[in-house]
Amino acid sequence: MLTQEELAEIEAVLTCYPQKRAACVEALKTVQRHRGWVSDESLSDLADFMDMTADELDSVATFYNLIFRKPVGRHVILVCNSVSCWVMGYEQVLDYIREGLGIGLGETTADGRFTLLPNVCLGTCDQAPAIMIDDDLHGNLDTQKIDDILARYE
Ligand code: FES
Repeated sequence: MLTQEELAEIEAVLTCYPQKRAACVEALKTVQRHRGWVSDESLSDLADFMDMTADELDSVATFYNLIFRKPVGRHVILVCNSVSCWVMGYEQVLDYIREGLGIGLGETTADGRFTLLPNVCLGTCDQAPAIMIDDDLHGNLDTQKIDDILARYE
């Protein structure tokens, strides 16, 4: 069941769109912001509220890679694997993070702190190699920087 707070935030967003369903990505993001991910139950409740079928809403949710349909850690690390980052050291960055956290792509640390996911271009190619943690971009990475950055996220 959606909370009153979630519903209020979604209602506010609806005023910006000509049709209710046009706001479905923002509505999904709202639910995810509150719960960390979008469960089947949340998706079904949200679909009812948005006057959509669960399948329609799920097709949107699974199209966007930043809507999480499975539980994730408290922080999500997106590692850019597109061309600029690939040329500038993507593999070294990924290997260092994987070894440091003891997880592979698509996995979550045992303490629930981090989930590690691949991602296409993060739009900061001039600072490749880059990662994004939650809403924060980090570029020009080297191993020392990675340690410092990860230490900021509890
Ligand atoms: S290629 Fe990595 S940020 Fe663009």
